[in-house]
Amino acid sequence: MFSPVFRGAFIASARPSISILSQLRHQSRKMTSATPNEWTNSPAEFDFRSDTVTTPSSSMLAALTTASLGDDVYNESLTTNALEARLAKMFGKPSALFVLSGTMGNQLCLRALLQQPPYSILCDSRSHIYLDEAGATSLISQATLTPVVPANGLYLTLEDVKKHVIISDDIHYAPTKVISLENTIWGVIHPIEEIRRISEFAHEHGIKVHLDGARLWNACSVTETPTLEDYSELVDTVTVCVSKSLGAPVGSFVFGDEKIVKKMNHIKKLLGGGIRQAGILTAMADVAVTEVFKKGRLSEANYYAKMVEKAWKGVGGETTLPVDTNAVWVDLEKRGVPESVWQKVGDEMGVKLGGVRIMTHYQNSVRAIEKLEEVMQEACRRADAGEGRHEVETLEKSYLSKQ
Ligand SMILES: Cc1ncc(COP(=O)(O)O)c(C=O)c1O
Repeated sequence: MFSPVFRGAFIASARPSISILSQLRHQSRKMTSATPNEWTNSPAEFDFRSDTVTTPSSSMLAALTTASLGDDVYNESLTTNALEARLAKMFGKPSALFVLSGTMGNQLCLRALLQQPPYSILCDSRSHIYLDEAGATSLISQATLTPVVPANGLYLTLEDVKKHVIISDDIHYAPTKVISLENTIWGVIHPIEEIRRISEFAHEHGIKVHLDGARLWNACSVTETPTLEDYSELVDTVTVCVSKSLGAPVGSFVFGDEKIVKKMNHIKKLLGGGIRQAGILTAMADVAVTEVFKKGRLSEANYYAKMVEKAWKGVGGETTLPVDTNAVWVDLEKRGVPESVWQKVGDEMGVKLGGVRIMTHYQNSVRAIEKLEEVMQEACRRADAGEGRHEVETLEKSYLSKQ
């Protein structure tokens, strides 16, 4: 039997397409809370800290055995070349390049889009390039960042951009030369119409646009359109990750025109990012795209996220952002649950939590969500009884415990 949360989640589900919804219904009939998935004994099933915790599937591992073993620095990795060409087509861009990480992808794009300081990059104040890349943008591109808090609390609009963009030759300023967007942004979909408005404005003023699409797949997992191509045609460069949500162990791709991708490849090598037998990584990336994204499996993650939201609301909780895709931001403070209690209960019950952000992925399971629901109930019970009330929360900043 399914818990009330699981049954209810069908009703409140995140707009998956009809066929995926019926597949999920079919699957749910087969799955019981005791049914293991492919990843039983994998650390990912009960891990809600991030969608990067997924482990390679058996078909990813099987793909290693047929991967090309040519040297990618010499451009002889056939598996890599073929996947880059296919993905470039899928994203509607002339060229694609496999890189080691999303951070490397973003930094290559920004460095390649920029020329000679002084200049600045306008971005959302929550963006990964600003908060979570160890200051790499300042080091690698020598750029000043202009972090902007979106007025609607969700995503940047043209109005936000116009308020903060620096279009000036006044020598006091570092003019905006790149606008860097992120989609999804903290799990929320940046609507394509808003990206179009910002992009048109930017291009009219000679400003380039980068899209950190680490989770662009997720933005495209809810409805059939807009597609990956629809989003990427609006911007100059794009980064996407295959190691988030899709389940590959390593890697990202960057896209742009041939000239810029050639430049990125050069900087990639400069940064020590040349990969020799890259085929063993791109073979797994290929399976990730084909078997996880193309088969619609991200809908499962979206679906689990809706279940999590429902469970949290069931204990009187609220979320701080809408649950568009696979991130659920629980307002622990409002519910009166100290983060120390939250983490402790999770640890005790074998559920890995990353503070107020719960991220789901296709390797979670119904039984894992049920377990998380129990964690919520127990954490609230203890908090209501006063546990942790007078503790001073640690000020140490931790990536997997976002505030
Ligand atoms: C939006 C976004 N961009 C970029 C990255 C960087 O990816 P990586 O960890 O592969 O460097 C992340 C990582 O979680 C991310 O969430």
